[in-house]
Amino acid sequence: MKPDTEKVLSILASHENDPSNLIAILQDVQAEYNYLSEANLTLIADTLGLSVSKVYSVATFYENFSLEAKGKHIVKVCAGTACHVRKSGPIYDAIYEYLGLHGKKKTSDDGLFTLETVACLGACGLAPVMTVDGEVHAKMDPERAIELLETIRKEEVRA
Ligand code: FES
Repeated sequence: MKPDTEKVLSILASHENDPSNLIAILQDVQAEYNYLSEANLTLIADTLGLSVSKVYSVATFYENFSLEAKGKHIVKVCAGTACHVRKSGPIYDAIYEYLGLHGKKKTSDDGLFTLETVACLGACGLAPVMTVDGEVHAKMDPERAIELLETIRKEEVRA
């Protein structure tokens, strides 16, 4: 048995393999792996005696669940009011385009970046704000945001 399987089975057991605990189980598995892989969703469905499509429909219904592995760097653009007013939207759009994202896809094909939004970071005086791996970057604009990501990408290529 693979270690991943053991871990997921132990999470299922901690919820008594009870289908009525499906959401809590999905939360725990996502907390462990940062996302819900196809293999883990299938394992959960099989163990609980549910159809895979039922488990998928719950996992896709709730915004907090991710079916996609996250990138190495997590980029968050603040969507709070102060940042929105100071045009954080165009920053998000520029990054979205730069990373080649589409639809619900939030992670670049090279696996380097995942783009997300975040509610007010409590740094409204520095708006518009974005973070990369938790580090705050203040008074951003689309050009500076792309430059920042390009710098990180170049460092990754060199590493
Ligand atoms: S709204 Fe962006 S930091 Fe407060």
